[in-house]
Amino acid sequence: PREATAAREIALRYGNRPDALLEILHDLQHQLGFIPEAALPALAKSLNLSRAEVHGVVTFYHDYRREPAGRHVIKVCRAEACQSMGANELVGMIERYLKVKLGQTTADGAITVEAAYCLGNCALSPAVMVDEKLVGRVDARKFEKIVAECRS
Ligand code: FES
Repeated sequence: PREATAAREIALRYGNRPDALLEILHDLQHQLGFIPEAALPALAKSLNLSRAEVHGVVTFYHDYRREPAGRHVIKVCRAEACQSMGANELVGMIERYLKVKLGQTTADGAITVEAAYCLGNCALSPAVMVDEKLVGRVDARKFEKIVAECRS
């Protein structure tokens, strides 16, 4: 499969070094948009690691996406400054409103919501990033507007 070929090629670029696993996964996600399950056995073999080891790394880090993303990605900051300004409540509201959990994509494929850990917008917390755009002081009303724009 294409995923396995891509994984093998990228691993080779790093000399099949097991200590380069994070970089390899990063490149793979960049190329395919996510880390497909089908790529993991090939990757494990190239790096001479067990599948469980590779799987463990992929699931441990929040940065790796396990499924293709929706048309828009909204990252919600969960770091300290945003938490003190109600980020947890915001996450709860978002999950209810979109009927997904962080890390998932809405049923219409429009939006993937993910956690982020400081977007560098602490002065305007709670902050989210919509694709490449930062939005600060997000409340329910602002969030609903963002969603409407993503879906239009
Ligand atoms: Fe949320 Fe810095 S803590 S932007």
